[in-house]
Amino acid sequence: LKVDIIGAATSFGQPKLGVDLGPDALRYANLVEEIKSVDVEVNDKGNIYSDFKVDVPTHSSSEDKVLKNYGQVVNFNEKLAASADESVASGAFPLIIGGDHSLAIGSLAGISPHYNNLGVIWYDAHADLNDINTSPSGNVHGMPLAISCGIGDERLVNLHTPDIKVKPRNIVLIGMRDLDEGEKKYIRDENILMYTMEDIEEKGISTVMTEALEYLHGKTDGIHLSLDVDALDPSETPGTGTPVENGLSLSDTIHAMNLLHESGSVTSMDLVEVNPLLDDRNMTAEKAVAIVAAFFGKEQK
Ligand code: ARG
Ligand code: MN
Ligand code: MN
Ligand code: MN
Repeated sequence: LKVDIIGAATSFGQPKLGVDLGPDALRYANLVEEIKSVDVEVNDKGNIYSDFKVDVPTHSSSEDKVLKNYGQVVNFNEKLAASADESVASGAFPLIIGGDHSLAIGSLAGISPHYNNLGVIWYDAHADLNDINTSPSGNVHGMPLAISCGIGDERLVNLHTPDIKVKPRNIVLIGMRDLDEGEKKYIRDENILMYTMEDIEEKGISTVMTEALEYLHGKTDGIHLSLDVDALDPSETPGTGTPVENGLSLSDTIHAMNLLHESGSVTSMDLVEVNPLLDDRNMTAEKAVAIVAAFFGKEQK
């Protein structure tokens, strides 16, 4: 296995400063060394940045609503998609480290053309299934999964390839506990498989992960794991912009990663929303690195 680390140094999907420093916080927490320790070859490709520091005058709006930082989000994700595409084409496993979750627009756009039916495991407190009309904030980090399903701004939906990237029936949502009304409706209408925190408490994380993999096996030819650190409880990962109480524990998450590793079926990954400026002594990055190491096969001590 050869892992390409792609640093997605963006914060344009949300308003808080510092999440663009996430990739370097993860490197300072020994990300590269920890992955190498399980005999995986690592190629750190450095960071991708937007070409624009201030908003560019290309807004996508419907009536009075706007997608915030639209120009930067488009530009950044075009660059990220090209890099993720190239990584898969070279036979590597792309590990995209963020950066806010709007980066999943680019990672999925670059990765999905290599599969007929890419599965997605969205491990998050949020579904990120908003569009401009259902979003309470206008922040694009609440929209990447909807955009990948073909819902929302045309330029973002058709980014990199003029295609829908993910089918709702190939998605599993895990860790959900903060959904907006429009997201709930979309999940219901599209019959998306969802595990809320209540479901996880009831069934246990092992059963949830096993069911999720069984659901995706057979109908998908690759699985992308998009892991938002706010899936975990804020006591574990305080360094994130939209923390939500009553989240997953670190030990359940490490267990979930061990199961994904054993399945051997995950083919790419995002690790997002690490914000060192909101953190306590880089502990969120350190926990995130432990999660990634478990995903690549590191045994728990
Ligand atoms: N649902 C809220 C919104 O759309 C919060 C989204 C948080 N997303 C994230 N990737 N942390 O604004
Ligand atoms: Mn989230
Ligand atoms: Mn998210
Ligand atoms: Mn709590």
